[in-house]
Amino acid sequence: MKVFWLHLLLICLSSVLLGGVANNASRPASVNIGALFHSNSTIGKVAKIAIQEAVNDVNLNSTILNGTKLNLILGDSVCSGFLGFIQAMQFMQKEVVAVIGPQSSVVSHIVSLVAAELKVPMLSFAATDPTLTRFNSPFFIRTSNSDLYQMIAIADIIDYFGWREVIAVFIDDDYGRNGVAALDDALADRRSKIFYKAAFPPESDVTRAKVMDVLVHVLMLESRVIVLHVTPDIGRLVFSVASYLEMMGNGYVWISTDWLSSVVDSHSPLPSERMSEMHGVLALRQHTPDSNAKRAFISRWKNITRGSLGLNAYGLYAYDSVWIFAQALDEFLNQGRSISFSADLRVRALHATGLHLEAMHIFDGGQALLNNILRTDLMGLTGPLKFDTERSRVHPAYDIINLVGNGYLQVGYWSNYSGLSIVPPETLYRMPPNRSSANQHLHNVIWPDGTTGKPRGWVFPNSGKQLKIGVPIRVSFKEFVSRVSGTNDMFKGFCIDVFQAAINLLPYPVPHQFVGFGDGSQNPNYSDLVNMIAAGNFDAAVGDIAIVTSRTKIVDFTQPYASSGLLVVAPFKKKNSGAWAFLRPFTPTMWGVIVVSFIAIGVVIWVLEHRINDDFRGSPRRQCITILWFGFSTLTFSHKENTVSCLARMVLIIWLFVVLILTSSYTASLTSILTVQQLSSPIKGIDSLRTSDEPIGYQVGSFAQRYLMEELHIHESRLVGFNSPAEYADALRHGRVCAVVDERPYIELFLSSQCDFRIVGQEFTRSGWGFAFPRDSPLAPDLTTAILKLSENGDLQRIHDKWLTTSSCSQDNTEMESSQLHLRSFLGLFLLCGIVCVIALAICFIRICHQFHHVSRTPVISEARSSSILRHLQTLRCVIDEKKEPSKKRKKTQDSEGSPTDDDRDEEHRRTPKRQQSPTSMEGEDNPRQLGICPACLT
Ligand SMILES: *[C@@H]1O[C@H](CO)[C@@H](O)[C@H](O)[C@H]1NC(C)=O
Ligand SMILES: *[C@@H]1O[C@H](CO)[C@@H](O)[C@H](O)[C@H]1NC(C)=O
Ligand SMILES: *[C@@H]1O[C@H](CO)[C@@H](O)[C@H](O)[C@H]1NC(C)=O
Ligand SMILES: *[C@@H]1O[C@H](CO)[C@@H](O)[C@H](O)[C@H]1NC(C)=O
Ligand SMILES: *[C@@H]1O[C@H](CO)[C@@H](O)[C@H](O)[C@H]1NC(C)=O
Ligand SMILES: *[C@@H]1O[C@H](CO)[C@@H](O)[C@H](O)[C@H]1NC(C)=O
Repeated sequence: MKVFWLHLLLICLSSVLLGGVANNASRPASVNIGALFHSNSTIGKVAKIAIQEAVNDVNLNSTILNGTKLNLILGDSVCSGFLGFIQAMQFMQKEVVAVIGPQSSVVSHIVSLVAAELKVPMLSFAATDPTLTRFNSPFFIRTSNSDLYQMIAIADIIDYFGWREVIAVFIDDDYGRNGVAALDDALADRRSKIFYKAAFPPESDVTRAKVMDVLVHVLMLESRVIVLHVTPDIGRLVFSVASYLEMMGNGYVWISTDWLSSVVDSHSPLPSERMSEMHGVLALRQHTPDSNAKRAFISRWKNITRGSLGLNAYGLYAYDSVWIFAQALDEFLNQGRSISFSADLRVRALHATGLHLEAMHIFDGGQALLNNILRTDLMGLTGPLKFDTERSRVHPAYDIINLVGNGYLQVGYWSNYSGLSIVPPETLYRMPPNRSSANQHLHNVIWPDGTTGKPRGWVFPNSGKQLKIGVPIRVSFKEFVSRVSGTNDMFKGFCIDVFQAAINLLPYPVPHQFVGFGDGSQNPNYSDLVNMIAAGNFDAAVGDIAIVTSRTKIVDFTQPYASSGLLVVAPFKKKNSGAWAFLRPFTPTMWGVIVVSFIAIGVVIWVLEHRINDDFRGSPRRQCITILWFGFSTLTFSHKENTVSCLARMVLIIWLFVVLILTSSYTASLTSILTVQQLSSPIKGIDSLRTSDEPIGYQVGSFAQRYLMEELHIHESRLVGFNSPAEYADALRHGRVCAVVDERPYIELFLSSQCDFRIVGQEFTRSGWGFAFPRDSPLAPDLTTAILKLSENGDLQRIHDKWLTTSSCSQDNTEMESSQLHLRSFLGLFLLCGIVCVIALAICFIRICHQFHHVSRTPVISEARSSSILRHLQTLRCVIDEKKEPSKKRKKTQDSEGSPTDDDRDEEHRRTPKRQQSPTSMEGEDNPRQLGICPACLT
């Protein structure tokens, strides 16, 4: 009894503690779930088996749903919207709590409306339409990957191979249309585009004739990359017709969405004739990571089907869908919720009696079950079963396979995480994501034509027809491009040679024919030529066409093959042969300084020499002449006067060096002045041209006219058009225009024969010449590459040298002012010479002072006159003017004192009798006799 009460208490306690959760509504014995698929399709057949297997596994597993059995109700929806809808209504009357499926996107769109009303979650394993979102289909959950990612993968492949335009062949239903729309967006992000959309009607009876119609149209197009997004039945027809039309090969590229891989996986080996129709096709397959569970399931699959039907990726997704549901339902029941349905009062209110619509019930726990499904975090056969906030499976990834022979090669993987790779995406998730183009890799692909060389991806439209290339018929500057006389469509010249050389570098032939543009009497208008391309009259234009904004707006240009830019040319004339040309090498200041320094050097030498050197003595007049003569004769190193003193020699040698430099500079400068030409026009460049109001010449047809008028606002009346270089020269010479504005290449050619004109100022626009193509023409980038190759290997320069001679005139650009020599260039020399002079003079002056000091101290002098200042000055003059022996002689004289040897001395002695008797006369050098004071100082 006690035991019984204890038990009772425990039961009560537990029921209170658990809040009636576990014990309340006892778990239902079975729960209905529906499955909607198209059992006549490959995916449907596989999915049916997979779903049944999954339900069996769940029912046999005791750890999940603890006793509650899943009761699977199969529905064959026949891939049609209407029948699928009816099917769904029937399910709803059978009180299903969830639907696995529908398989097709079309049915999903319709059924999701019913599901949303009745709150029955739908777990679709194969409806990949990216427009089925959580907003428009709140109870729709996709357990596989949206086509959004598949289309990004295809766009990445197209980008990887560098194709720019593709053709989309698709079925025009929700699946095809919305998938291709996603592809369009993904391509636009990669600067590519869908060139043409070829749609099949959504009817199930697409006939061979219909497919033929569509493909013949595709055959006419220039793009050769085809993305095939259809159903397996239509796809099979398409390949059959394509191989009949020889579209499997011939540079075609076929990229198929994952419908093809599911067919190949489920029906392999396919008959070899079917495989050969699909040789070289690239196909995508939803990537499922390798795992033990997956391998076990595959071997189990083989045992079940006995090889009659291969497993494909959708089978795995279908299997996982059941497990996602079972897990969510288990949790739902664990939450203490019960499976209950209630009548839809709104339907009842309609009184639609005949249809038995009142039998449809709303699943009360639908929202809770949906939330449980979205919270799923399991490991399934297809990888981690987990949804992000947008209800996408995490880590979408695809395998990229290449159908070859009777099987396929795996050429790589695509993952949303890191793009294209050759290693499985699972290994990439451990590394940081890297979508950079350098990180994108694929193995070699064997294309439909059997080679591994990447197809170009496009051909010329209507192959066989030649490209019509417009060429200007020039009447001047024919070196650039001109029609071979006597022919209609043969052209020669620099531009034509460059074009031919570039075309030869392309890896494919470009059949073309030149068509002349212009009347042959004057140069054609190049803007009109460019407009002809935009209007479709020409497929390209080759010639000296400047790349300017107004033109790049309507056509595509290649990279420039010749640099160009507008230049100003003005007349030029020699201006240096005047009578006074010899004066021009030095500036007037320079001349002044030179004259002064010649006189100065004469004076310095005279100061240093005249006391000891007879050459510098004599009457004042004679001395003045000597000073001038000596100074200027150093100019030619022809001075006859001997220099005796060390100081004078030192000064002289420095001076002679200065003279040497001056004469050689003068010679050099005069030479250049006499040979260099000087601009005689007031035009110094575009700015002075703009402000002047003289007429300006331009080349007829060139963009220069428009540029001058529209950009520089020069009035039209000032512009004069010319047709040929001869007209340029004539007009410039006769002053009809003050300058000519034209592009650099023409000007260079013009100046190569005309030497009296010169480029003034800088190039004021920078542009180039290119070949023009219609917008988005695939030839333009290929030719650009070819032109760059030509420029890098030097061929461009060789063609240039062949046609265009460089100028034979000297194009010395040094301005006149710079060839005149300024004082500042010689300042150092003059400074050096000046310093030496000053030092020499200073030394000389000190000596004189010294002597003067002694002389003025002698009693003879102190006894003398009253006016001492006057007397001092006189003494100084005498000391300076006095004749003195050179030091060597003086030494000799000291040795034999009192016995004068030369006449001068005798004369002095005679003139200075008093001093010889002075007491200080015995004091060596200071002996006034030796100092030789002149008598004039003492009288
Ligand atoms: C238990 O289930 C009944 C109906 O079966 C319900 O009325 C009741 O609220 C439930 N109790 C709890 C605690 O959920
Ligand atoms: C299933 O496909 C076969 C041929 O593959 C066809 O004969 C049959 O009519 C199809 N059945 C349905 C219901 O579509
Ligand atoms: C039963 O289900 C659980 C997950 O709920 C799983 O871990 C276990 O492997 C399953 N057992 C069998 C025999 O499949
Ligand atoms: C399963 O249900 C039984 C009663 O039906 C219960 O005894 C058992 O504890 C349950 N197991 C789990 C894991 O919930
Ligand atoms: C294959 O299936 C049979 C029953 O159809 C079963 O007896 C056998 O064990 C299975 N073999 C494997 C390897 O699963
Ligand atoms: C795919 O990648 C983009 C960015 O690369 C990211 O924003 C998006 O969330 C990814 N999607 C999934 C499902 O991982």
